[in-house]
Amino acid sequence: MTILVTGAAGFIGSNFVLNWFDKEKEDVISFDNLTYAGNLDNLSSLLKNNRHYFVKGDIGNSELISSTLQKYQPTAIINFAAESHVDKSISAPDTFIKTNILGTYKLLKSTLSYWGTLKEKQKKDFRFIHISTDEVYGDLDKNNSPFTEENRYIPNSPYSASKAASDHLVRAWHQTYNLPVITTNCSNNYGSFQFPEKLIPLCIINAINEKPLPLYGDGKQIRDWLYVDDHCEAIRLILKKGAIGETYNIGGNTEKTNIQVALLICKVLDNLQPRSDKISYDQQISFVKDRQGHDRRYAIDSSKIQKELGWHPKETFESGMVKTIEWYLDHEEWVKNIISGDYKKWIDNHYL
Ligand code: NAD
Ligand code: TYD
Repeated sequence: MTILVTGAAGFIGSNFVLNWFDKEKEDVISFDNLTYAGNLDNLSSLLKNNRHYFVKGDIGNSELISSTLQKYQPTAIINFAAESHVDKSISAPDTFIKTNILGTYKLLKSTLSYWGTLKEKQKKDFRFIHISTDEVYGDLDKNNSPFTEENRYIPNSPYSASKAASDHLVRAWHQTYNLPVITTNCSNNYGSFQFPEKLIPLCIINAINEKPLPLYGDGKQIRDWLYVDDHCEAIRLILKKGAIGETYNIGGNTEKTNIQVALLICKVLDNLQPRSDKISYDQQISFVKDRQGHDRRYAIDSSKIQKELGWHPKETFESGMVKTIEWYLDHEEWVKNIISGDYKKWIDNHYL
């Protein structure tokens, strides 16, 4: 048995593959075209693992996807591959349309052809799990209830609009062609291996490098933070027990303003690695120009996955943040390589 994981060299994909090898027996094909956000260094602990295969490629490359599916005969596809950074989608939306919409469409087409070749039992057991975001539901007011699976799709950024489009395609491939799909919509993840374009790793790395922690606008925007390992556990559970054609919201039940996030990072760092002058890192927090069309609040109601599948997040925001910051402090080389772009050289030496 084998699963195919797209976007496996990115933040959540790599955590998922590592988590999988800790807990499961099936082989994994990691499929990733190694954009600036894909880093094979994240999977370096699997270099000698003969149950792990890496294929460098684009989910939009139908020929390569089809030959990979034929060769490895996976029993499931977990689709993490995407352009994922909202700020980048505002300044350069083209790749978001190409990967998140066209790429997902091509991947669905190739998957459907492959699925059609399977025997009845394999067909029945096959799953296409599509990883999406809570951002498709739009922006919440302070008094609105958290997003349930019944909320309307009202995406506001090029990123969330492209993810919403991909979710609709996935749904259509189930409704029209019976492809056994499940979609997950999760809140903001944090943890090890996150590329420092996102708020939490950016603040951690800037803090220790004596740079400003830049908060957009008034810093009072709210996100519902989910520790990445809790997310990976939820996806494994959905793969085993989730109902075909359903969607599941996954959140950490941890709504925090960006100021609260930055202050917690400073507090944990003050404790783990105080500044040499003993002044708190919170002196480095600075307010900068707001993001265009910045959504004020996201919050997830996870009661469906909790009730139906028995999933609960294990980490609190404080415990998850301590683990995350300890990981960044212990992985100076990873951080240095990410910042300098040296990990691209590492890929050349190891794989290509
Ligand atoms: P990421 O940007 O860290 O990683 C994305 C990975 O996909 C990279 O390894 C990249 O090389 C790969 N990729 C991009 N385009 C590709 C293509 N055309 N073909 C093959 N591979 C390609 O993203 P992430 O934070 O790990 O997010 C993973 C998924 O989870 C995405 O679909 C994202 O929309 C979703 N998501 C993320 C968050 C979050 O907080 N990070 C929250 C909700 C949903
Ligand atoms: P981000 O990590 O980019 O995730 P998303 O936009 O998908 O929620 O941003 C999280 C929040 O932090 C969001 O409200 C934007 C804000 N933010 C800052 O205030 N400063 C920054 O430098 C970044 C990257 C984000």
